[in-house]
Amino acid sequence: MVRTIEWKDGKVLMLDQSKLPCEVRFIECTDYLMVAEGIKRLWIRGAPAIGIAAAMGVALGARDVKASNYDEFMAGIEPVFETLLSTRPTAVNIRWVIDRIRNKLFVQRHNPVPSLKTMLVEEAERVLSEDIEVNRSIGKFGAGLIKDGDTILTHCNAGALATGGYGTATAPILFARDQGKKIQVFADETRPVLQGARLTAWELMQEGIPVTLITDNSAGSMMRRGEIDLVIVGTDRTVRNGDVANKIGTYSVAVLAKENGVPFYVAAPTSSIDLSIATGDEIPIEERDPGEVTRFYGSFSAPGCDPVWGFVRIAPEGVKVRNMAFDVTPGKYITAIITEKGIFKPGEIKDLDAAK
Ligand code: MRU
Repeated sequence: MVRTIEWKDGKVLMLDQSKLPCEVRFIECTDYLMVAEGIKRLWIRGAPAIGIAAAMGVALGARDVKASNYDEFMAGIEPVFETLLSTRPTAVNIRWVIDRIRNKLFVQRHNPVPSLKTMLVEEAERVLSEDIEVNRSIGKFGAGLIKDGDTILTHCNAGALATGGYGTATAPILFARDQGKKIQVFADETRPVLQGARLTAWELMQEGIPVTLITDNSAGSMMRRGEIDLVIVGTDRTVRNGDVANKIGTYSVAVLAKENGVPFYVAAPTSSIDLSIATGDEIPIEERDPGEVTRFYGSFSAPGCDPVWGFVRIAPEGVKVRNMAFDVTPGKYITAIITEKGIFKPGEIKDLDAAK
């Protein structure tokens, strides 16, 4: 199983996903600012994975806080929380993890500061291991929706790389494979950052799952031709009415799936469910650097030389760009939402006692 992040020898070891699949390179983060930078720059990405990174970032940040009691400690750790919360706005997982940590710290407020710091490291490791268990559970429930011989379309990367391991959208696929079902996956390339081409295709190939890469523009046509049996995607935030925010292009896939009578499923760990928001319209949508749209990032390599990373411009200099990283898919397009607690209709999410 691909592992994208771990706590090792008092540091955070992160697989630099911006270099995949050309280079498998790990980055050692020695302080919380580096973790925050890694989240912003997409060295690590995917809602659950950035939640885990934030938990580890807090543990790193806590180490340098000089305090002799709980109140001083909280005053010192607050900038760490704020920095991590400001990295990426759409996924709710960073807030989920910070709220969880705040609660833990409050419960243990009478403990000495050094033990609070130790607790934060243990908690970060727990967030990681729990996430893997949650994904396995999503896999178990979701596999029941997949039949022998099915072709599954996915968008972006909601696989092991986007989580502690095993993935959310990929979990039912892995589980169905382990049940002996012969399945295959179509991966949307996912412009502009190409998480489908660079990450999903790579990790499914590592798992030995037959995967076919298609351009984003092909998905509708593939559905019309009857080549897709179901769609499974991840989510960055699922709200009370069952609307979900996910990678830009998810909405188009969902509308096309409805039009073509293809079931559209969302794999959603409760860590990405936000019951404080009524509808998808209230979800903050991240807008990213126009350079992601006007340029390609890649590596040039010659035999015997180290790869050289750089940008290739593909659009006119100075062109106006909108680069919304996520979109909202209304619940009416979603057949069901697969969580670690079971499978729900979008309208049932509001009744879910999310593990908050
Ligand atoms: O911009 P990214 O790569 O962080 O976007 C990731 C996605 O949209 C994923 O589908 C989502 O975070 C779910 S990951 C299990």
